[in-house]
Order: sequence, then structure tokens, then C-alpha cells
Amino acid sequence: MRVVLIGNILGGQGKSVIAHNFAALLNKKGFRTLMIDGDGLASLDCYIDDDNKSTIKDVIYEKKTIVETIQRGEYFDYVRGSSNCRVDGIDTAKVILLLQKQFETINLFYDYGVIDLPAGNLVKNRLFATVADELIIPVTNYLHESCIHDYIDEMLEMKQFNEKFAIRGILLNRIDERHNDVNLLYKRVYEKLNPDKINRIFSTTLRESYLMPYSIYEKKFICEYERYVGIRQDFENFVDEYLAG
Ligand SMILES: Nc1ncnc2c1ncn2[C@@H]1O[C@H](COP(=O)(O)OP(=O)(O)OP(=O)(O)O)[C@@H](O)[C@H]1O
Ligand SMILES: [Mg+2]
Repeated sequence: MRVVLIGNILGGQGKSVIAHNFAALLNKKGFRTLMIDGDGLASLDCYIDDDNKSTIKDVIYEKKTIVETIQRGEYFDYVRGSSNCRVDGIDTAKVILLLQKQFETINLFYDYGVIDLPAGNLVKNRLFATVADELIIPVTNYLHESCIHDYIDEMLEMKQFNEKFAIRGILLNRIDERHNDVNLLYKRVYEKLNPDKINRIFSTTLRESYLMPYSIYEKKFICEYERYVGIRQDFENFVDEYLAG
């Protein structure tokens, strides 16, 4: 299982919609995919019909195994998030070992694990880095580059617990060629964001779209829509670019 984190320490960058649509599209392409809500505020539980209320908190607090928390959904298998999963004050070393052991038990069941990370909670972001292969950082503009700069460094420190962990790339989200100078954005991101520490900036930029509000209403993901052809194509291009390596 390849574990991909979708994270940014800043809020509202599109982490949740990208993580869920990414997982749905990987699953549609035939990869066995597990979506984990590492945030608890993703509010995408409407995709699950199951009434299993177990969450990732039960795993972190050693109440359940990860297998017991997994639910089967139409678009992917899913582990619910918990809005009150506090991680400050926990025995970090113990939880890291526990998570690594639990993820080991599902390693062969899935091709991809996609984790939606919370904004503003570095401890949780770093915990999940200890079981992940890579991090993709959605960025909506270049105004907060110093925050992201620090976030990259702080996440990379977790290599001490998990050598393989890497920053896979920056994904420019909500960039509309009509309103933003995409080239300027690329230039700023390249100049400011430790290009030696991140593998790439995806050449696909996701446009202003209806990734969330409509899909949540209709319980569908972007890959299911016939009517958002251009927007869907953006997203498919990103996933293809990701899969091409
Ligand atoms: N490409 C896009 N086009 C239009 N709206 C978008 C796009 N990406 C995200 N949004 C919207 O922006 C809002 C924030 O997105 P989302 O909740 O995915 O961000 P987040 O980074 O997970 O936020 P949080 O930090 O609160 O968890 C949502 O209403 C979502 O629908
Ligand atoms: Mg979110």
C-alpha cells in the first residue's frame, strides 16, 4: 500500500475535496483504495451508508484495530475521522509504533491509502507522516509561502521515524487561468518553496470548480460527472500525472 497524505498547515486549501476525489478516482481506475479522514472535520461521512461509527481515534487510542474501523463504501473503503481526537500530551513514540503496526496489517489489502490531514495541527500531521510514503500539498495562492516553507521542513523532520517519507509535490488548486497569472505563481512557488526538498510542482493546476458543494449534495465525486467535462479533465490530468511518477 502506498500511503499518500494530502496536507497543508493552512486551512481551506482544498485538502478534503482533493483527498476524497483523488481516492475516488484511484478506486475507479481499479486500484484498491482506502480513504482515511485524518481531520474529523471533512464531513464527507455522507458517502458511507454503514452505521459503524468507529473512527481513527479508536485506533490511536488503542480501542480498536484499524481493520475494525474500515467501512466499505461505493467509492472507496473508508476510515472515519473524529473531531475530538486530541493528540497533544499523548505518548508520541508509543502512538507512532502503534500506527506503524496497525498500517502494517492492511499493507497487502490496498494499493493506495489516502489521508486527508487537518489544518493547524502539526502534531497530527507529523504523526501520519510516520506511516506515509509521501505528501502532496495543495496550495491556492503564493501569499503564505513562508508558512508552507516551515511546514515542509517540519514534516521532513519525520524522516527520522520513517526514512521513505517524501514531499511528492505541490498541487496548485483553484487556479483559474482567466483570473490568475499561473506562470507568476509557478515562479514564486519554485523560488520560495525549497525546490530541493520537494519532488515537483504538478504541471496540472486545478481550476475553480464544483468539487465539493454539488458533489456532497448529490453524493457524487467529480469523476462521476458527465457535465463538468473540463473540470473533471483537470482532475484526471492531475491523477494521471501523479501515476506517471
Ligand atoms: N478547485 C476548487 N474549486 C472550487 N472550490 C474549491 C476548490 N477547491 C476547494 N474548494 C472549496 O473550498 C472550500 C475549502 O475546501 P476544503 O474543505 O477541501 O479545504 P481544506 O483544505 O480541507 O479545508 P480545512 O483546512 O478547513 O480542512 C470548500 O468549500 C471547497 O468546496
Ligand atoms: Mg479539510
